[in-house]
Amino acid sequence: MSHHFELLLRGGTLVLPWGQEVADVGVRDGRIAAIGDLRLASADTVLDCRHLHVLPGLIDAHVHLREPGDPAVETIETGTRAAVLGGLTAVFDMPNTSPPIVSSERLAWKREHIRGRAWCDMGLYVGATKANLDDLGRLEAEPNVCAIKVFAGSSTGDLLVEDDASLERAMRSGRRTICYHSEDEYRLQERRAMFEGGGPHRLHAEWRDVECAFLGTRRIIALARKTGRPAHILHVSTAEELAFLGRARDIASVEVLLNHLTQTDEAYDRLGGYAVMNPPIREERHLRAAWAAMSDGTIDVVASDHAPHSRAAKERPWPATAAGLTGVQTIVPLMLDHVSNGRLSLSRLADVMCAGPARIYGAVGKGRLAVGYDGDFTVVDMGARRRIEESWIVSPCGWTPFAGHECHGWPYATVVRGRIVMRDDTVLGEPQGALIRFR
Ligand code: DOR
Repeated sequence: MSHHFELLLRGGTLVLPWGQEVADVGVRDGRIAAIGDLRLASADTVLDCRHLHVLPGLIDAHVHLREPGDPAVETIETGTRAAVLGGLTAVFDMPNTSPPIVSSERLAWKREHIRGRAWCDMGLYVGATKANLDDLGRLEAEPNVCAIKVFAGSSTGDLLVEDDASLERAMRSGRRTICYHSEDEYRLQERRAMFEGGGPHRLHAEWRDVECAFLGTRRIIALARKTGRPAHILHVSTAEELAFLGRARDIASVEVLLNHLTQTDEAYDRLGGYAVMNPPIREERHLRAAWAAMSDGTIDVVASDHAPHSRAAKERPWPATAAGLTGVQTIVPLMLDHVSNGRLSLSRLADVMCAGPARIYGAVGKGRLAVGYDGDFTVVDMGARRRIEESWIVSPCGWTPFAGHECHGWPYATVVRGRIVMRDDTVLGEPQGALIRFR
């Protein structure tokens, strides 16, 4: 085909929805215009992808970029710069900021603030509160909203909708899939007094125990079935929930975090406060169940739950330790390392970090390396070996729980709607990330 493209990716191994093929990809007007043998085509820019794998642009559907509120630990600019350095082409940003994103006015502020600051494309969550329950149907239909987020158990910030009557009201307002932090608030509060005296960080996993997560998820799924409203359970962390959700595919979908696929409770002794997150890192048997759920298809989405906090907040003695771990910059290298170790295929990686998020949230133009879709690509070098260094982290908080981890496989280039925004560890051009449309 003798065509002209803006961008031509030459000779890579393409991770297509129907399998892997060595072929060229041509991008025009920001969209994939041709896939195949494009030797006769010309282009403004050619990216040589020989010996590299070309994945559809990977999405991190769960990040906390902390704006408005805490630019000392993260901003839209730094968080999305971290994303593209780490090989991501889009992130969906959580609403538990200060103030939280819970109204049309705050959403409008955020859309405006993102313009000219984001390096990758973005979707925006709206938070449920007891004051906006009947507005959620209207809010989820606003432009660029990836989903409503319900904190049914308390975490960072003050968003909380914990009782069945309010949860049911939320489910009856609107139709799209709702995303839940499902830890059970009543059990959390009941058990809090047992741990008031403090102690080692691993007590975090005893306080927020398996039953806390499982009970909360059972309650959400019962209400979802009663109301017929699809539920996406975020950061599923227990073997019990995975087995249960595998039998609830009529109404439920499943997100698992990179952390719960990578870390076990030995991390508390090694990392102290830098292992504390909600829901917690747990014993080995839950990690094994998560990989079984990867193999059998139970998992729809893998995300990072990138949740930066200052070093001072992470180093406070438990239980005052801030909960949340950074991860937007490291999720792709670590998932590639899992691929290299034979734990999943590149096709399954594209499924859980591109097709899955696009399907669950209804992202327009995302989800497939196919003609007509956005020209978003994560180009990776599976032969590269590189250690994650704290000095590489661009989030202002400046730390990662994965410092020192050697990854076999590393992102080589990030392409967003036909523009190369990262190549060879260098961010290129200007921040031109766009807000994503959702069905
Ligand atoms: O560990 C967590 N940190 N879990 C959450 O649910 C929220 C997040 C944060 O915003 O810090």
